[in-house]
Amino acid sequence: MKSFRHLSVQLLLLATLFPILALCYINPATTSIHQNATKSSAYRAYIVLVQPPPSNAGEDAHHQWHESFLSRSLAGDSRKSCLLYSYTEVFNGFAVRLTDAELDIVSKKPGFVRAFPDQTLQLMTTHTPEFLGLRNGTGFWSQADYGKGVIIGLLDSGIYAAHASFNDHGVPPPPARWKGSCDAARCNNKLIGAKSLIADHDSDDEQGHGTHTSSTAAGNFVTGASYNGVGTGTAVGIAPSAHIAMYKVCDARDCKASATLAGLEEAIKDGVDVLSLSLGSSTSASFDQDPISIGAFSAVSKGILVVCAAGNNGPIQRSVTNEAPWLLTVAASSVDRSFGANIHLGNGKTIDGEALTQIGNPRSKLHSLLYSKEWRYCNYDYDSSITGKILLCKDNKSRAQRSKIRNIVGAGATGVVLFNDEISGYTTTVTDYNSSVVQVTAADGEALIAYIASTDNSSMASLAYNGTQFGVRPAPVVASFSSRGPSSLAPNILKPDILAPGLNILAAWPSKTGH
Ligand SMILES: *[C@@H]1O[C@H](CO)[C@@H](O)[C@H](O)[C@H]1NC(C)=O
Ligand SMILES: *[C@@H]1O[C@H](CO)[C@@H](O)[C@H](O)[C@H]1NC(C)=O
Ligand SMILES: *[C@@H]1O[C@H](CO)[C@@H](O)[C@H](O)[C@H]1NC(C)=O
Ligand SMILES: *[C@@H]1O[C@H](CO)[C@@H](O)[C@H](O)[C@H]1NC(C)=O
Ligand SMILES: *[C@@H]1O[C@H](CO)[C@@H](O)[C@H](O)[C@H]1NC(C)=O
Ligand SMILES: *[C@@H]1O[C@H](CO)[C@@H](O)[C@H](O)[C@H]1NC(C)=O
Repeated sequence: MKSFRHLSVQLLLLATLFPILALCYINPATTSIHQNATKSSAYRAYIVLVQPPPSNAGEDAHHQWHESFLSRSLAGDSRKSCLLYSYTEVFNGFAVRLTDAELDIVSKKPGFVRAFPDQTLQLMTTHTPEFLGLRNGTGFWSQADYGKGVIIGLLDSGIYAAHASFNDHGVPPPPARWKGSCDAARCNNKLIGAKSLIADHDSDDEQGHGTHTSSTAAGNFVTGASYNGVGTGTAVGIAPSAHIAMYKVCDARDCKASATLAGLEEAIKDGVDVLSLSLGSSTSASFDQDPISIGAFSAVSKGILVVCAAGNNGPIQRSVTNEAPWLLTVAASSVDRSFGANIHLGNGKTIDGEALTQIGNPRSKLHSLLYSKEWRYCNYDYDSSITGKILLCKDNKSRAQRSKIRNIVGAGATGVVLFNDEISGYTTTVTDYNSSVVQVTAADGEALIAYIASTDNSSMASLAYNGTQFGVRPAPVVASFSSRGPSSLAPNILKPDILAPGLNILAAWPSKTGH
């Protein structure tokens, strides 16, 4: 026994000294400890494409073929621990952690095609069906049978399965071709698939994004939904009778391309009809260098529609991502709904704004309206000079500003009129300040500054809350943050393809994340 242990210590030592032997022997979780132990460089995750195995015989043969790239000396289970993922559907290949020296060895093996460093992808965030002309019981919605029989796969941050939006009232069992499995807390005819592709994670949604996108795509009817009484109505996804399959490929921070490919792989095997990806890289790599584009091409060639968000890097030109021609790339727009709030000025004019927090009287009395260039971000040190005043401030979209606003209003300022910066322009992303804050466009902010200047700080204003308004025009309008074309990779490809509601959308959110 003792000599056996001695032998394994020697093997470990050998493995550390000689990368050929070390291949696939390092546990991914402990690579950082080993980073300076070898002379070669640090371990990185790679996505490696290889040719199909010489004899095409089932999944086990594929895995063995993939493992054969990783070691020619070490036998046994230890080899498996270092394959992060094995791919057969998206392409033939695998994800693995390697040093540069090890990659060099792998790349010389017969059958190697190429390797990409793993990438980090970001989740893309921010009365919709009615606005799209989808009416209960008539027209396109009933013709399309509310998406009945369609399986929508989502690659996202997981799903809060217990949410009311994922009830299966009126949803038939999944079609026989469905081969997937569901490990969520509640699986039913609505939520037919839930899997985590991230080690040591279940399919639950710690982040919120996956629950939001799932309910937007295919949430069932939930009556009486609202955000603290605002936007009250029946919440429903665009395909209320469709089935949902969640593939968790992102943790609370971000998503790895290797995990996303593993999700694509599973979704293809399980038999989804549509795949929705609301994630992407912040930089666009050429199509042949982008493993997600390559993997999605396989999905599309197998008859799956792959729908991707265009990105939230607008309004900068050429900021669109997920722009491969075989993807359906979706931009974000406003809808015809507004959370109405108005600023009535002493000169009799009214400026229309929005307020997610509809606090206070329907119409308060006139107060002094102040603007100071020095304190334009509402960075006031609270003193009696702002008691009972309405302050005009510029939105800098920071957490610090949100808490500052809460403090100064809590301490006695009457309210804040917050105007968008130039980049946001006319796109007001409503935010819950839990205090009297009315948000207005950049242009209205300029108009208010001019008005205040014209009155030498003797301007008066009152704030009025007018509840949820529909029929707002113009709508839809492309949101300022929605990434713009043309594609920087292929300017002759017009992207994004379509526009869909993506601004100030009420949707399901896991209750425990507290939003
Ligand atoms: C590894 O070595 C580099 C310098 O060679 C050093 O900067 C780094 O902190 C070391 N990392 C660890 C984990 O010890
Ligand atoms: C809409 O139709 C669905 C399915 O027929 C039904 O379950 C739901 O109650 C209806 N909702 C409303 C608000 O009418
Ligand atoms: C208006 O009031 C603010 C805040 O008290 C002050 O900083 C600013 O200088 C005043 N402007 C004028 C023109 O009096
Ligand atoms: C934004 O506003 C807050 C609060 O007024 C301030 O503390 C912060 O420095 C501002 N940030 C920027 C980038 O201007
Ligand atoms: C909102 O503010 C009120 C007091 O104005 C407070 O009681 C309540 O807890 C706040 N809600 C949140 C979510 O912060
Ligand atoms: C307030 O809302 C009503 C409809 O709910 C609308 O007719 C009215 O014009 C709105 N008022 C303002 C000042 O926006």
